[in-house]
Amino acid sequence: MGTTASKVENASGMPALKTIGVLTSGGDAPGMNAAIRAVVRTGLANGLKVKGIRRGYTGLLEEDIIDMEAKSVSDIIQKGGTILYTARCPEFMTKEGQDKGAAICRKHGIDGLVVIGGDGSFQGAKQLAARGINTVGLPGTIDLDIACTEYTIGFDTAVNTAMEAIDKIRDTSTSHERCSIVEVMGRNAGYIALWCGIANGAEDILTTEKYDRDEERIINNIKEKKKRGKKHHIIVNAEGIGDSYGMAKRIEAATGMETRATIIGHIQRGGSPTCKDRVYASAMGAKAVDILCNGDSMRVVAYKNGQFIDYDINEALAMKKDLDSYLYEMSKRLSR
Ligand code: ADP
Ligand code: F6P
Repeated sequence: MGTTASKVENASGMPALKTIGVLTSGGDAPGMNAAIRAVVRTGLANGLKVKGIRRGYTGLLEEDIIDMEAKSVSDIIQKGGTILYTARCPEFMTKEGQDKGAAICRKHGIDGLVVIGGDGSFQGAKQLAARGINTVGLPGTIDLDIACTEYTIGFDTAVNTAMEAIDKIRDTSTSHERCSIVEVMGRNAGYIALWCGIANGAEDILTTEKYDRDEERIINNIKEKKKRGKKHHIIVNAEGIGDSYGMAKRIEAATGMETRATIIGHIQRGGSPTCKDRVYASAMGAKAVDILCNGDSMRVVAYKNGQFIDYDINEALAMKKDLDSYLYEMSKRLSR
């Protein structure tokens, strides 16, 4: 895990950082609190003042800014959600909003800012950086849909929560010899569906990236497996495909197999973070502060090939990622 030593002066000889801020933005994710804690405590250990900006960019524009001490982040590493609250802020997508945000940072002496969120939040960080506020983004989303990184804060907890829920659904599905459609989160990304589909041994995994909308094939698959004596048929359906209740009705009518749909929903966004989410979020939070202390800006922290690294925000935002085709094809071979 590479970390950068903090400097009293930054690389370009500019005055050293005195105060940093931290905010969470977009959908919350378990592990965000661990990241906030790491930012605060690393900042304090590096001799900085630390301010918490509540409710994302909305709170920045409303100057909802609080001083953070070591004890402000006591007893939070094990908690889901974000103690700083989060929001989606349309005003920050305007030039006026961004100018105002940068001016408010300057007014509060915030010369470095850690933004914990997804790609949208990084766009906001990029705009602040363009206005002279040093920024670092941390990937915080249960969706795992940030291209530059193999890990995002919250995915591990969310996927384990969904997996446990699907195990339970499978019990009752088998007892009743039913088909169960389980809808998991991920409006634009099928990572939760793919991982749960594999971990829960689902018969079908439907994601926006891979599903060809051939419901006839699913129906034939159910009929064929029923003939072979299979006692259940689990379909993990990504939120982006949706229509789980409609699909259940159509499948029941076409196969004669009783079919139920369950939407797991926001349960996946809450709960105590897993060990992995606590440790990786902590490492990312500490690294973000070290990057700022080094005088760098417009960076995104990522996890790749077993290491915590960082990218230029523009480079990170330009990257594309798709569902792992090997995992997807493998899942089809494993469901017999
Ligand atoms: P995420 O960060 O998880 O991708 P959103 O896309 O909802 O979530 O973005 C969170 C917030 O980031 C938005 O509500 C907005 O305040 C800010 N944001 C999103 N896109 C931009 C943009 N292009 N420019 C500036 N700010 C943005
Ligand atoms: O981005 C995280 C996520 O939970 C997605 O999986 C989901 O589509 C979306 O946020 C739901 O957002 P909300 O219900 O908070 O508007």
